[in-house]
Formats: sequence, structure tokens, C-alpha cells
Amino acid sequence: MSSKIKQLLTQKPEGQQVSVQGWVRTFRANRFIALNDGSTLANLQCVVDYENFDENLIRKITTGAAVKITGQYVESSGKGQASEIQVSELHLYGSADPETYPIQPKKHSFEFLREKAHLRVRTATFSAVMRVRAALSFAVHDFFRAEGFHYVHTPIITGSDAEGAGEMFRVSTIDPKNPPLNEEGNVNYKEDFFGKETHLTVSGQLEAETYAMGLGEVYTFGPTFRAENSNTTRHLAEFWMIEPEMAFYDLIDNMDLAEKFIKSVLRYVLVHCKEDLAFLDERFTKEEQSKPQAQRSAMGLLEKINFVVDNEFKRVSYTEAIDILRNSKPNKKKKFDYIIEEWGADLQSEHERFLVEKHFKTPVILFDYPAKIKAFYMRLNDDGKTVRAMDILFPGIGEIVGGSQREERLDILQERIKAMGIEEEELWWYLDLRKFGTAPHSGFGLGFERLVLFATGMGNIRDVIPFPRTPQNASF
Ligand code: 4AD
Ligand code: MG
Repeated sequence: MSSKIKQLLTQKPEGQQVSVQGWVRTFRANRFIALNDGSTLANLQCVVDYENFDENLIRKITTGAAVKITGQYVESSGKGQASEIQVSELHLYGSADPETYPIQPKKHSFEFLREKAHLRVRTATFSAVMRVRAALSFAVHDFFRAEGFHYVHTPIITGSDAEGAGEMFRVSTIDPKNPPLNEEGNVNYKEDFFGKETHLTVSGQLEAETYAMGLGEVYTFGPTFRAENSNTTRHLAEFWMIEPEMAFYDLIDNMDLAEKFIKSVLRYVLVHCKEDLAFLDERFTKEEQSKPQAQRSAMGLLEKINFVVDNEFKRVSYTEAIDILRNSKPNKKKKFDYIIEEWGADLQSEHERFLVEKHFKTPVILFDYPAKIKAFYMRLNDDGKTVRAMDILFPGIGEIVGGSQREERLDILQERIKAMGIEEEELWWYLDLRKFGTAPHSGFGLGFERLVLFATGMGNIRDVIPFPRTPQNASF
């Protein structure tokens, strides 16, 4: 069995015979192979005495080649590493022609690497990001398991629009060239695969609610899809969402859980991804230094993560936030793209980021939003115009969590559904929850890629998911 480089680097080099397998990052002076196997950020130096090997073989050991190396694991006399392998056997699995292999040992732009998304994980930055992503994903399950939550798998294909925003991808097997038509001349979805119109889900919440009403505390963590034409550094058409749903929780319990959850998963990567985060911290600092002073982050990456873990999130009502924004400098000087004039305005990411980055300088939980700008399922407050919603806003990100206490009163829920022009029939099962043993309950959704974006200090959401799906882009 060959060793993983991560594990080997923890061993004392005493001349023991070892094997490793991985990809060549660089091959310097026909002598020094920097080998990486993805187990860790570090490369392992493998020293080749090229006279002992076939010339043709040596020529094929280039950046990107896959090899198996056997030799003695010894202390290194060179600078930059404590240990190395003195290579005795060199096996080439697959070469990588330097003329055509795109990932060369030089700085590539992230734009370039996005076009090589199938190879970019072989760079230090992307391998670090993806290891942190994997660790965060584990931390999510770890947290909820420890809290006594049950993981439920909610469907991907759905007949209802959970967010009521109508931004869904259709799922259909109808032949677009020859669709069955109904009497009005429209496509007859009764003849489609499911006998009705279906879409990819925008959220697993509604189904998660049904399970919370039996299992108590549940969460779903799966892919969600939004056909919104948002070409920003914060939006994907396919992203992963973590949605806990809890019976008998009110909005305050919900906020407490969300805050505890975010801190817990970030703490997990601080402990378990030290090397990768140190590397990403350095990258982040370099990138910030290339920006104009005014746009630079006041904190380094590790500092930012620690700050979030160590400080209480500021809780502010929507109404208070509107007052702050209305009286803010950028609003008065008309620096915002959207000027805040009246209570009821939807907040744009520029406003959210002003509150977090300039005003409070800490993560913010905004709550009690106007009913008009929020989804139908949120619990109506006694004022009749706001709902028990909460959004968590993060520095550099904007909204990272959206959640609410749910409307558990049947009559009010029905009114809200009607007012929003939603077909009640599609939600009959959701309304049943309010007919049979209804109970107060709450939940939230955290966009996983936005969390990874924050934890890795990357600037574009397309660079924290293996294969980003965005408008006009579904390659790979
Ligand atoms: O605020 P949203 O739309 O809330 C819901 O979907 C609720 N059903 C959640 C719940 O209460 N169970 O989305 C939740 C989060 C956002 O705060 C954001 O982090 C992320 O999902 N998100 C996106 N992430 C990437 N790309 C997009 N297009 C996103 N849209 C939302
Ligand atoms: Mg939202």
C-alpha cells in the first residue's frame, strides 16, 4: 500500500521504504519532483538520480503527469522541506504533454481556470478551497447530529414553488418540437411525465416542515436551483442549501440556532483546515493589497473568521435598519444605486453590506421584514404588516442566511397565499400541517457556497463549487 502524503509528513524520516502516488506539480533540474496527491496542501519532494532511469521515462515526467514513486523516506538537506524521498522506483501512469496541458506552474487567472474546471483542482488554491468545502460539509452534519437533528432528504423535483418567486427550471419529457396541446392550444402537461407541471426545487423547506412536524428537529442539505438571471459573484443557478426546520422554535430560538451553527462550522475548519486556511489567508491578503485602499478588507481572512466566531451577531429590526440607511451618507449623497426612501423598500446587497461593513462592522441579523417583500409562509406579526423573518448578513457576502418563524395559523396562511396569487391546490398538503396538530415552528436556509466563499476568502462564488452553473454556462 502506498502512503498518503499528508500521513507521511507526520512520520519521522528514518530511511524507511515508502511509496506515494500523485501528480507532478513541478520537475526541476531533472532531479526534484514536487508531488501532490490532494491529501494535503504540501507537495512532497522526490529526488531522482536521473542517470539511474531511462531517458525516455525522465522526459515524460512533466507537470501534470501521474506517477507512483517508491524510495527511502529521509531527512532533506535542502531548504523548504524537512523530508523527502530518494527515488528508487519511478512508475509513470499517465504523462501530460506540456504543449497542451493547460495547468502550468505559473499564475493562472481564475477566469482562465474556470474554463478548465475539470483540471483546476490540481492547483494549490482550488485544492485548498475544495478541501475546506468538504470539511465544512462534514461540519454541517456533525453539528446537527450533535444537536439531535435528523437529516431528511427532500425531493429535487417538485410541483410547488416554495419561494413563490417563479424562478424555476422546468422538468419535462415533452418533445418541444411536438408538444401535446389542450383545448386552449397550450401545452398539456397532463400528458407530461408526472401528469402535471414540475420543476427543480428552489428550496427543500416545505417538505422539511412536514418532517419537523413528526421528527421534531430536522435538516435537509441538498442541491437547489434558481433560474434567476443574476450574473453576480454571489449567485449560482445550482447551489447547495442547508435548511434546518424545528418544531416549537420561535424566531429568537431560530436566530440563536443559526448563530451557533455558523460559529460551530467555522470553528471546525479553523481547527481542522489550518494549513489550507493559512495558505488562503496569504492569498487573500495579496489580493486585497492589489485593490485600491478604500476597497480593501480591514481584516485578513483568519482574522475575519475568528471575528465571526468570537463576536455576537448584532440583531436589528428591519425598521431600525431602514432608519439607519435612510440617514446614511451614501444614501444622502445618492451613492447607492437604489436610494432608500420609504419603509417597505427591499434591501439590495449594497445596503446589506453597508450595514455590516460600514455601520455595525459585525455580522447582522435583520428581523421583522415587511410582509410584502417576503415569502407567503412567514408568520405575520400582530402589526399586520411585518413578518417574523430573519436574514443574516455577512461582511463581504451580504445575505448568507434567510429564515423565519412559519405561519402556523391556517386562516392567516390561506389569506397570505391568496394575497400573493399562489394556487392553493398545489399546497394542499402544506395546509394539512396547519389542520392536523399545527404547532409553532421555525427554520432557515444557509447558502452553502456563500459560507464557503466566506471561509476561503475567495471573491467569486463560481470558484467555490466544482462545476458552477450560471446563466449561459453549464459546461462539464
Ligand atoms: O433566502 P432564501 O431564498 O430562503 C429560502 O429559500 C428559504 N426557503 C430558506 C428556509 O427558510 N428554509 O435562500 C436561502 C439562502 C440565502 O440566504 C443565500 O445564502 C442562498 O440561500 N442563496 C443562494 N446562493 C447562491 N446562489 C443563489 N442564487 C442563491 N439564492 C439564495
Ligand atoms: Mg433570502
